[in-house]
Amino acid sequence: MNLFLTGSTGFLGGKLIKNLLQDKQNEVFILVRNIEKAENLRDSFSSSDQRRIHIFQGDITYPMAGLPPEDIEWLTNKIDAVYHLAALVKFDLDLRDELFAANYDGTKHILDLASRLQAKHFYYVSTAYTVGKLTHGAEELYPSNGEFNNPYEESKVKSEHLVFSYRDRMNVSIFRPAIIVGDSKTGEADSQFTLYGFMRALAVFKRKTARRSGGDRTYRLVAAKNGTSNLVPVDYVADILSLAPQKADADKIYHITNPEPPTNYELLQLLKEALDFHSLSVVEHADEQLDEEEIRLNSLVDVFKDYLAGNLSFDDRNTQELLRGTGVAHLDMTEEMIGMIILAGYGDTRKAIL
Ligand SMILES: NC(=O)c1ccc[n+]([C@@H]2O[C@H](COP(=O)([O-])OP(=O)(O)OC[C@H]3O[C@@H](n4cnc5c(N)ncnc54)[C@H](OP(=O)(O)O)[C@@H]3O)[C@@H](O)[C@H]2O)c1
Repeated sequence: MNLFLTGSTGFLGGKLIKNLLQDKQNEVFILVRNIEKAENLRDSFSSSDQRRIHIFQGDITYPMAGLPPEDIEWLTNKIDAVYHLAALVKFDLDLRDELFAANYDGTKHILDLASRLQAKHFYYVSTAYTVGKLTHGAEELYPSNGEFNNPYEESKVKSEHLVFSYRDRMNVSIFRPAIIVGDSKTGEADSQFTLYGFMRALAVFKRKTARRSGGDRTYRLVAAKNGTSNLVPVDYVADILSLAPQKADADKIYHITNPEPPTNYELLQLLKEALDFHSLSVVEHADEQLDEEEIRLNSLVDVFKDYLAGNLSFDDRNTQELLRGTGVAHLDMTEEMIGMIILAGYGDTRKAIL
């Protein structure tokens, strides 16, 4: 198949392209804004695989991703399916305009491009956190005027509506991963955001305070102890996306979520151990006022607080159906696996901050 991808230089995209190239019949056409990054990615493959990677420079914030007319002409009628992964993955409230430019306008531009290229299928990678402030996620569209924790979630919900509005032009399916973490076998993760951003913030705080306090006091992090952190390994997400051309139905939404996620308390215990940060304590409510350093700790991880606050559940029956009869098993993420992924991530975090 000829597969067109956005976001291939990102965390998930890097893993997905590897999977897709395992099928020697596949050719991948990647839209990237940074040619050097794309060439480095291509160089990481064998020379026969490299010949099946075609690089196009563009930017999703421009109509038709800014591709020159000759590229559009050349690609027309060649593409079987478009995977749209490129996005700005940040939860900051003050980045609303940038988030909508990349995530909403960007999705519109790629839908228009896919339609112009006469692509038959469009696979949109959204997020399980389009669930916003609801507590149960269903594999269906949420109202676009719901309540959201941040403009990232809102931009993704509105983009999902946009994607479904193109279903008269091509087959569209939506995939909603939860929090993507490292590989289930190696722990490897090429990411500095979400869990890794959180880990880095904790590691920096620990290093700074250890120098001052000598480690003889505790710091309280406020989190719902029994809330859950829905982590999914990057290879599981990429495996499901790779099955899309064979198994995904048009107009369907697929949750790529963990059916039995760890509680925040369990996750924070594992983080404490990995970071050797035993003066960190997790409290449901701060009974006594947080002191200055604790306020700083909590504000460092402020953008993650909505993800530590609740107990969400996600229905993933469409995904279970998609997996039936394939070699990919429904996710069973053990505590050992999560611990291994965290330890591998902490190794990288230490290298980055030291
Ligand atoms: N990571 C998670 O936990 C998570 C969870 C749920 C859903 N998702 C979704 O999964 C998808 C991939 O996420 P990720 O974690 O792989 O993100 P990532 O590592 O930040 O990668 C984002 C990708 O998008 C590209 N991109 C961003 N803006 C662009 C633009 N204006 N034009 C062209 N390309 C642009 C980036 O290119 P550069 O390399 O040039 O920056 C990069 O390849 C996103 O749609 C995200 O919303 C992620």
